[in-house]
Amino acid sequence: MNIVEDLNDLRTQVRTWRAAGERIAFVPTMGNLHEGHITLVREARQRARRVIASIFVNPLQFGPTEDLAAYPRTPQRDQTLLAVAGCDLLFAPGVATMYPQGQEAQTRVEVPGVSDLLCGASRPGHFIGVATVVCKLLNMVQPDLALFGEKDFQQLLIIRRMVADLNLPVEIAGVPTVREPDGLAMSSRNGYLSAAERTQAPALYRALTAAAQGLAAGRPAPEVESTATAMIAAAGLRPDYVSVRRAADLGEPAASDRELVVLAAAYLGRARLIDNLSVTHPGGLTGPAATRHSKNDDAAQQFLR
Ligand code: PAF
Repeated sequence: MNIVEDLNDLRTQVRTWRAAGERIAFVPTMGNLHEGHITLVREARQRARRVIASIFVNPLQFGPTEDLAAYPRTPQRDQTLLAVAGCDLLFAPGVATMYPQGQEAQTRVEVPGVSDLLCGASRPGHFIGVATVVCKLLNMVQPDLALFGEKDFQQLLIIRRMVADLNLPVEIAGVPTVREPDGLAMSSRNGYLSAAERTQAPALYRALTAAAQGLAAGRPAPEVESTATAMIAAAGLRPDYVSVRRAADLGEPAASDRELVVLAAAYLGRARLIDNLSVTHPGGLTGPAATRHSKNDDAAQQFLR
């Protein structure tokens, strides 16, 4: 695996692959890789001749009181994992490469509306930082395809909107959340959890599962939201939100909406955990629904019975 920090080196390599007519897939990350990231790389391998991953802990998407300094950095381990997973090139730029004029002077990308709700309401400016860095990375790498995890459902939606609104010539693919056997969605921030907190954390997934099942049984969205919130609090987490939304744009669902998503965020010790489950509602919010689970969700279900 080729490792480059410099933008010119990246462009030289990409130009060679393009000249050879090779399709390029891109997996942007902030490092401290886990099975969720590696699944993105494996999926990228299936879908393109060349795979580029990036590792950049993006200061622009952290709030002033958030965990930028403490964010886990494991470069050697990440490089090994990427190489084994079949990544061809790792782009690992420094802050000066990404923000040569300094962070404050950086031109920003804002996706209005959908950036302000849910995680955006709790983390002001976060999605401007995400949209800006992803836009820059897409312009630097110029991939045919970029892959993102569905665990960050709101982020994925914002990136899709940005790409459409700015006419960026790249396909965006969402990849299902990878879970621990007890249902906890894999996340770099799970490493912040103490052993005791780690046993509490799957309550988030259990609450989302109960919410999705509640919707399937025809219970109203506000009722499933408050039941799930109570479950999260009862397990000792501090709920931020539990919300049933329209999957297409995260708007408040109307009775006729079929494709829904239940999203939740909660604080536990030093970690802020997020997760979501999609629900396909054949009859809208007024009829019976079917919850949509990934393979990993099915495995995790065993622990919920
Ligand atoms: O999901 C992440 O790891 C980050 O938000 C991303 C997309 C790499 C941008 O920094």
